[in-house]
Amino acid sequence: AGDTRGRRHDSQDPLKRFTDAKLQMRDIYKDLEECVVDLSKFYHAEGDDDSAHKFVPAKEIAEVARFKESILTIKEMFNRDKMKVVFFGRTSNGKSTVINSMLHSKVLPQGMGHTTACFLQVEGGSENERMLQIEGSDAKRPFAELHNLGHALSSGNSATSALGTNALVTVLYPKASSKLLQNDVVLVDSPGVDLSPEFDSWIDKHCLDADVFVLVCNSESTLTQAEKNFFLRVAKRLSRPNVFILNNRWDASSSEPEQQIEQVRNQHMQRFIHFLVDELKSCTALECKDRVFFISAREVLEHRLKDKGDVERAYEQDGYPRRAKEFTSFETSFERCISKSAIRTKFEAHDRRAREIISDMRDNLDAVTNLATREKQRLKLNFELKNREFLECRKAFADFEHRYREQQQRIRQEVHLKVSADFHEE
Ligand code: GTP
Ligand code: MG
Repeated sequence: AGDTRGRRHDSQDPLKRFTDAKLQMRDIYKDLEECVVDLSKFYHAEGDDDSAHKFVPAKEIAEVARFKESILTIKEMFNRDKMKVVFFGRTSNGKSTVINSMLHSKVLPQGMGHTTACFLQVEGGSENERMLQIEGSDAKRPFAELHNLGHALSSGNSATSALGTNALVTVLYPKASSKLLQNDVVLVDSPGVDLSPEFDSWIDKHCLDADVFVLVCNSESTLTQAEKNFFLRVAKRLSRPNVFILNNRWDASSSEPEQQIEQVRNQHMQRFIHFLVDELKSCTALECKDRVFFISAREVLEHRLKDKGDVERAYEQDGYPRRAKEFTSFETSFERCISKSAIRTKFEAHDRRAREIISDMRDNLDAVTNLATREKQRLKLNFELKNREFLECRKAFADFEHRYREQQQRIRQEVHLKVSADFHEE
């Protein structure tokens, strides 16, 4: 029945590994569910006086019902699992522009001054439609309202808008429009950390299940205390959070002499390394080269829009190719990091739970087998027919268990190790 069983995980695309892992989990739980359903049917067989269910204790029957429920819950859980990245930084540093660049499209409102008014979560929608969903309501709202709901400048909206900065608006955008959305990545935009920050509630609500954080800085100034404080708070709640630093607006350096650009770059770099390594303890000094990038989101976005034919001319300053290359390097490192983290944190728990259920099921079968043997002797009745059926069920389970071990091996070795090998390859 498993369509993905035996499929090789040789996808070069790190994002695909997450979706592959999800499909494998789906197969494993589908098999597990079939086994549990068969066992449950067997325990509940009715109408026959000789039937085995007469000697199955209520405890074992109830346990099988619980297995069924857990399997359903877990299936729902991992079908909802996504890779999540949250963007933070001071007002106007270019958070929304970075997200739009990564999506190759102007999805989120961006502009001068204070723009993003609350948390905006972009995710791939099932329909080929653009829609909004405001938390607490199932109703879908037209995409055109995003500029009212999520924009601080719109009429009726302000820093103290009805929604509040901690509110969440989900933006459903066609999956087909972007590789990230296609592969279950959700991107969360936030209001500036320098504005009436409610750090703790922001963290509780939006950050605890994040796989990656991106700090968008302004290269014309320097890392501010508000930005630092926010991430220090995050690091207190989540040990070793995966943090990327984008030194945005690096196009501003283009008019400076080459030598000075390098000096400024080094100055920024030293500060970022100190922050990531010593203060946040997010990575090692060696890993910083894959965590800190000097980019211009505006240039990248405009070039991508131009490539799609959406605009005629793209904004570009001297030295653009190097900044464009750094942006794609960021995207590559980001994709590896988010997929590795999401597979580890999300699927390892499901894998552990599957193993627990299998082990409990084995105990359940053993208990019933022992009881059946004793009962058979005591009553001297001929249970053989039914017993054979039970043994068949047991054999099917043993087969499944064997297959599961192989699957598990594959997930652990091929998916995990491959991801970590790739991660360290450079
Ligand atoms: P808030 O939502 O207000 O917190 O701001 P934000 O961080 O989302 O900034 P946003 O993306 O709205 O960008 C602010 C302004 O800066 C916009 O006018 C962008 O076009 C511009 N901008 C963004 N990135 C760059 C860049 O790399 N270079 C230049 N020159 N301008 C940029
Ligand atoms: Mg914004």
